[in-house]
Amino acid sequence: MKPPINTILWKENSIYIIDQRYLPNKEKIIRIKDVKGVCDAIKKMKIRGAPAIGVMAAYGVALCGINSKNIKEIKRGIEKIRKTRPTAYNLFYSLKRMESIIERKDLKFEEIKRLLIEEAEKIYNEDLVSCYKIGENGEKLIKNGMNILTHCNAGGLATTGFGTALSVFFISKKKGKKFHIFVDETRPVLQGARLTTWELEKANIPYTLICDNMAGYLMKQGKIDMVIVGADRIARNGDTANKIGTYSLAVLAKYHNIDFYVAAPSSTFDLSIKDGKDIPIEERDPEEVRGFMGKRISPKNCPVYNPAFDITPAELIKGFITEKGIIRPPYEKNIYGKILKGG
Ligand code: MRU
Repeated sequence: MKPPINTILWKENSIYIIDQRYLPNKEKIIRIKDVKGVCDAIKKMKIRGAPAIGVMAAYGVALCGINSKNIKEIKRGIEKIRKTRPTAYNLFYSLKRMESIIERKDLKFEEIKRLLIEEAEKIYNEDLVSCYKIGENGEKLIKNGMNILTHCNAGGLATTGFGTALSVFFISKKKGKKFHIFVDETRPVLQGARLTTWELEKANIPYTLICDNMAGYLMKQGKIDMVIVGADRIARNGDTANKIGTYSLAVLAKYHNIDFYVAAPSSTFDLSIKDGKDIPIEERDPEEVRGFMGKRISPKNCPVYNPAFDITPAELIKGFITEKGIIRPPYEKNIYGKILKGG
């Protein structure tokens, strides 16, 4: 299965990623050889998006295995990766799977190292397949002539290459459907303006970029037929953490009677968490808000609040587009049924 974008690749005991900070102006590939490089890449958002962070974390543990002399050293590496970003559940999902290998008492150290690489490759391949299926399942919702709004970047760059929300658009395009996407620019890091536009342009999908504060006016004018966003962590009642601004969109969509969908793989569902109150929300560097693309736009040291995510209550969500099908309310029961039991 060949993705449209190689967001992350494992080759000759190294991780290769597109450094997303330079997009759309430069497609810079960087090589990462150790856990320090992995943590730096996740923290500085050289790679970002929940599923991509999860795959990066898995390969990070595989690298730890290669560079370590014993299990203790690998465990230290895992703890460093765990502290990089707190919200995206995929990171913790991957670490749990990788940890289950190092805990095996029946294996020799060399076997553990080999299995860590195999497990990371498995997590990578599962994400490829899941995202493709999300596209196939979501495509059924897209009708000719629709205008769909998306926020942040839930595209190939946020996953192993197909995306979640954007996978729905890629497959719809492949099936010959005609539709148009409105892209929120997504302050402060501009994932919409820099990354989603780049991906849609590559895929030849018609789009229009808007500032985040324009969405309500467009909805009022009847210009939006549907909203599809990605997710960083979904609690078992369906409350969803996603890029800051998602909650406002969901409230606006409800008021204007517009369907609001979340596209995400099973690896983003955190069934240990009852509802959104328990999802940790990352707060990032105030400089992201004080400035714009590296240029200061406000007084030096001005007070800033910079939460990177917000929580959309389940009641505002029409359905979850997953690789296992579209999950509809009642969420607690149906998320359990589909995600845990696969039924
Ligand atoms: O801070 P980011 O860029 O990592 O946030 C990304 C998002 O909020 C995405 O919408 C989410 O991870 C889903 S990606 C398929």
